[in-house]
Amino acid sequence: MVPSDTNCVAEMFGRIAPTYDLLNHLLSFGQDYFWRRKVAACLDEHKNIMLADLATGTGDILIALLRRRNDIESVVGLDISGKMLAVCKKKLNRLGLGNQAVLIRGDASHTPFEDNSFNVVTMAFGVRNMPDVPAALKEIRRILTPAGKMLILEFSLPASRIVRVMYLLYLKILLPVIAGGVSGDYQPYRYLGRTIESFCSPFEFTRCMIDAGFENVAVQPLSLGVAYIYTAAKP
Ligand SMILES: C[S@@+](CC[C@H](N)C(=O)[O-])C[C@H]1O[C@@H](n2cnc3c(N)ncnc32)[C@H](O)[C@@H]1O
Repeated sequence: MVPSDTNCVAEMFGRIAPTYDLLNHLLSFGQDYFWRRKVAACLDEHKNIMLADLATGTGDILIALLRRRNDIESVVGLDISGKMLAVCKKKLNRLGLGNQAVLIRGDASHTPFEDNSFNVVTMAFGVRNMPDVPAALKEIRRILTPAGKMLILEFSLPASRIVRVMYLLYLKILLPVIAGGVSGDYQPYRYLGRTIESFCSPFEFTRCMIDAGFENVAVQPLSLGVAYIYTAAKP
């Protein structure tokens, strides 16, 4: 079964929350550390950061940013899964960062935030799970200040045909077996493969960002195009 609504997605992530981080590092061969550090580095020029990290999960984007910078004004992490947020809270406390981030349970497509609340909004590996991607992008635009920056990290399929075939074999066969064995739950990792395959191409996603009213859209492939960083600004 592929979860078809937000409640099913929240429930599914809740089930894998205890092994989520371990499997992330294992299945990406440690590349996920590098990808999140790259996202954090995209903000090096920014001052007075007021950040919302949507679909924050276990909080690795928040942590990458808070470890890189000690001048961040405010940090909010929002996620639909209470269990993912509980893991996030524990990690922040363990790292002594617990009082630097506010965690909120909610839907990234309908956030409780006022218009123009944040000058940076990030979302890593979250947008693929949104039932209505254009609505999620419009929500990000709404909560960003004018000239605020959006950074999205998301999986994709590599452009090179040979690499793509090898990657798809990994995604469809090896990955669910490894992840299912470790977590005891195969379905979320079959869901992962299906959503990566069905998510828009970088070209199409760029179009979505422009259609949602963003400007200065830029795209950066990572690790042979297995993941991309998308950046854009609210006019
Ligand atoms: C693949 S995890 C990514 C977590 C984290 N950003 C990271 O980089 O590891 C996807 C996260 O999106 C959350 N999520 C899915 N749909 C959501 C929604 N509509 N609103 C908020 N969070 C959502 C899930 O609960 C899960 O924690």
